[in-house]
Amino acid sequence: MNRLRVAPASPAAEVDPTWPLPAGWGLNGQTALVTGAAGGIGTAITTALARAGAVVVALDHDGERAHELAAGLTTAGHTASAHRLDVTDPAAVNAVLATAVAEHGPPRLLVNVAGLLHHGPVTDFSDADWHRLFSVNVDGVFHLCRAVARQMIPHRQGAIVTITSNAASVPRLGLAAYAASKAAATMFTRCLGLELAGFGIRCNVIAPGSTDTPMLRQAGHDPASAIAGVPEQFRLGIPLRRIATPADVAAAALFLLSEHARHITMQTLHLDGGASLAD
Ligand SMILES: NC(=O)c1ccc[n+]([C@@H]2O[C@H](COP(=O)([O-])OP(=O)(O)OC[C@H]3O[C@@H](n4cnc5c(N)ncnc54)[C@H](O)[C@@H]3O)[C@@H](O)[C@H]2O)c1
Repeated sequence: MNRLRVAPASPAAEVDPTWPLPAGWGLNGQTALVTGAAGGIGTAITTALARAGAVVVALDHDGERAHELAAGLTTAGHTASAHRLDVTDPAAVNAVLATAVAEHGPPRLLVNVAGLLHHGPVTDFSDADWHRLFSVNVDGVFHLCRAVARQMIPHRQGAIVTITSNAASVPRLGLAAYAASKAAATMFTRCLGLELAGFGIRCNVIAPGSTDTPMLRQAGHDPASAIAGVPEQFRLGIPLRRIATPADVAAAALFLLSEHARHITMQTLHLDGGASLAD
């Protein structure tokens, strides 16, 4: 019988998202705002941007951890500041942005990372949980993009990346609200890319699959079954047979924000080891 062979996963060597960082990445000295900076993926992206020479502004609901991150980066010789920010509050977003502009000049880079995950069947989902998910995962992206785009347009320069999820394009049990919120954020970001293209501003999406962060661990995620797949949940496995690390996402974000991606906009990059079989 001609059976498909499944190769074992390669050793889990960590990637350094800032390697090899050739001249021309265009990130050096650029002011970069990162929301959700205190979380797993946000910390990796903020750190990678700082190491690439960007002036990073770490924004998170968890102000204490955002400040710790910025302090650590500053101690390591990078330029970083932090602000506590609830992305669901448009007035707070505008106020924090005004402070960041006064501190570091207009932002050239924005990464929308802040996000919430709630599981549950639709029939058990509360109005409050639905609205909370959408207020962070969709409204938050809108608030940041609107405020930052207003700053970028006069300078006719900028790049925005929104972290959504591969659940935005593949139906998943228990994830209807989360997936719908991520699909909304995806399309919002792509449409914004069209609106801002004439100003030389690019907007792209990264749609990760399972990534080893506090969010995934709190959701009771089982890496072995995610990799192997769960047929009774209509869930395919991960062809590359590994769970992503936050550094994997940071490497892709750095590329999409950099000048090496200067002709790429309105795209969604699925970063899921092939799990969604997406193009
Ligand atoms: N970990 C995964 O497997 C995975 C997979 C696909 C997509 N994602 C997405 O990646 C992003 C980062 O996820 P993570 O795994 O690093 O999660 P995480 O829980 O480690 O980090 C999320 C961060 O967002 C912050 N946040 C939440 N609500 C906020 C608000 N109202 N205002 C400001 N900050 C707020 C949290 O304080 C936290 O620091 C999320 O958008 C998530 O949906 C994660």
